[in-house]
Amino acid sequence: MPGVSLVGSGSACLTVQLSNDILSQRVDTSDEWISARTGIRQRHIAAPDDSLTTLATEAARHALTMAQVGAEEVDLILLATSTPDDLFGSACRVQVALGATRAVAFDLTAACSGFVFALVTAAQYIRTGVFKTVVVIGADVLSRWTDWDDRTTCVLFGDGAGAVVLRACERDRLLGFELCSDGSLNHCLNLAYHPEAVPLVGDISVQKGGFAPITMNGREVYKFAVSRVPEVIEKALFRASLTTADIDWMVLHQANQRILDAVADRLGVPLERVISNMARHGNTSAASIPLALDEAIRAGKIQPGDLIATAGFGAGLTWGAAIVEWG
Ligand code: UT7
Repeated sequence: MPGVSLVGSGSACLTVQLSNDILSQRVDTSDEWISARTGIRQRHIAAPDDSLTTLATEAARHALTMAQVGAEEVDLILLATSTPDDLFGSACRVQVALGATRAVAFDLTAACSGFVFALVTAAQYIRTGVFKTVVVIGADVLSRWTDWDDRTTCVLFGDGAGAVVLRACERDRLLGFELCSDGSLNHCLNLAYHPEAVPLVGDISVQKGGFAPITMNGREVYKFAVSRVPEVIEKALFRASLTTADIDWMVLHQANQRILDAVADRLGVPLERVISNMARHGNTSAASIPLALDEAIRAGKIQPGDLIATAGFGAGLTWGAAIVEWG
């Protein structure tokens, strides 16, 4: 059975920065509250002429360059996003923009767990021998769906895109994973469609609604994250026949510094082993893990051969962990 290796990473560079202080001019909040409760100091926001497609393409292009893989070699593009440019999917737009003429491309939606779910999905195609080269992208433009008057959510989110290139190899570097869903907690975090009945003809009506901005029960999601994330990482480690002592780096979904600290504490992982870019980016949903990973790799922190425990969690509710060796 072919194995999976991670051979390149990349991310998009967004130029618009929105600091806590600036945001405080719009909504009743403060840098003091946001940074103490979340660790966030600023977030990046897509400019009006950016699109999910352009950000995702930029991240993928950087990942392919690092991997020294040509776009025409790519077999599959998996785009994890909850904020597509087109509800029919944005991955094909990325495919054409990249020039990945041979690749099949589709979107995968699992909110902030999207990158981990897509990584594991991509690995299955490689392990079965169907595909040899896959680009996995996590990208979101949550600013489109943020209620900028709701201080309980708008301070948390930012926009971004990150990507990795996976290749078939002999020794499998995806050492273990575990994915979970619990739809009974769906109401805790939503970007939901609200249908409105519009008469069509006779007694037949059709839906002509729209998506309402993000709503979240922050405390419930917080409790869910600090209990489920350590558990799912331990399960993934168990499948890899490893323990927390073997982990070089934890790269978690960047939702809240307090969640990262609590997970590290429960697992006994020293904080200096926990990658955090929360202060600069906030919560970028599906982008947060590949963005944090790419920054740590480019900064020389994560080196080839390092063991990474990664975990995503969020709407669905969904959560999942993967244990991977970089390089
Ligand atoms: O990616 C998806 C996953 N999402 C998450 O992981 C989010 C998980 N949840 C959290 O990170 C935290 O629950 C939050 C950061 C969202 C909120 O932190 P908290 O410590 O749970 O605060 P809270 O909701 O309990 O609110 C405490 C107080 C409230 O005031 P009262 O009722 O105590 O008077 C809020 O009204 O803080 C108030 N508050 C704010 N004050 C200033 C809430 N948001 C703000 C704000 N600025 N932005």
